[in-house]
Amino acid sequence: MNPRKILIVGSLNVDQSVQVNDLPARGETIKGHNLQYLNGGKGANQAVACGRLSSAPGTVAMLGCVGKDNFGQMQLQGLTASNVDTRNIHAIDGTPTGMAIIYVSSKGSNSIVIISGANDCVTPELIHEPESLKAIEAADIILMQMEIPFETNLAVMDLAAKSGSTLILNPAPAPDHGLPDEVYEKLDYITPNETELAKLTGLPCNTIEEIGQASEVLVHKGVKNVLVTVGDRGAVLTNAEGSTHYTGIHADAIDTTAAGDTFNGAFAVALAEGKTPADAIAFANRAAAISVTRRGAQDSVPCRSELNEPQ
Ligand code: RIB
Repeated sequence: MNPRKILIVGSLNVDQSVQVNDLPARGETIKGHNLQYLNGGKGANQAVACGRLSSAPGTVAMLGCVGKDNFGQMQLQGLTASNVDTRNIHAIDGTPTGMAIIYVSSKGSNSIVIISGANDCVTPELIHEPESLKAIEAADIILMQMEIPFETNLAVMDLAAKSGSTLILNPAPAPDHGLPDEVYEKLDYITPNETELAKLTGLPCNTIEEIGQASEVLVHKGVKNVLVTVGDRGAVLTNAEGSTHYTGIHADAIDTTAAGDTFNGAFAVALAEGKTPADAIAFANRAAAISVTRRGAQDSVPCRSELNEPQ
């Protein structure tokens, strides 16, 4: 099988990451330490995961926008070093690179606030420029998140339907009032975590059974597969055949930032290589379990050689 191409359409942020003992409560002032400026953004993190985990060089590309500033440069260098084609990442004059302010607690959990900056320049007009259209048409798998304007995601969905590529939407951050119903039938996979699934459906998503039930609602709306990540409990895949829970891998987490991004990128790579969804989930669980043992977003994403794959 020819190596299949993956295109990530999404966000790039500089992560201003601070370690704290506990996440701050409302109205509370706390002390933090170890402030770092690191490459992040859900789109770029997923692109880095695809680039580092793919065994086929030259098959991963990203479409997005940064500012014409040092943080934008830092992103382009990081992506290139991770085997991602950056020709469709535009450096925008007069708009800063997107930013995320991240608190990471001593237990590894986090709180994130994003400031869109140049990510808002990923418009439907940009998507319809000839070079963008070429990249979209060339892609076998397209991976998107929710940190660029939503109308741009819709434009990509329509173009992807014409070119027949596999479309994966990681609905993060999940919109408070869910997604318009007509979106679901355009997607091959939607990959929320349990909190995002609860927001999309308005249903409780605490137990594996509840997650399966809520996922079925989205399958009835037309999405082919709902793949819910549930931390070290693994993942739940629901489609017309029913719901299956794939157990996860326990890891001693120090920072869960970008664990979901690592999972999504790894899953896309495994699909591109023709693995079954079950094997692709096992591959993605292994990658995500490594990422939580390291600090930072892109800094935590493993390379293929670290994955200890079954022979
Ligand atoms: O998923 C983690 C990412 O969310 C961070 O890198 C941050 O930039 C935000 O986009």
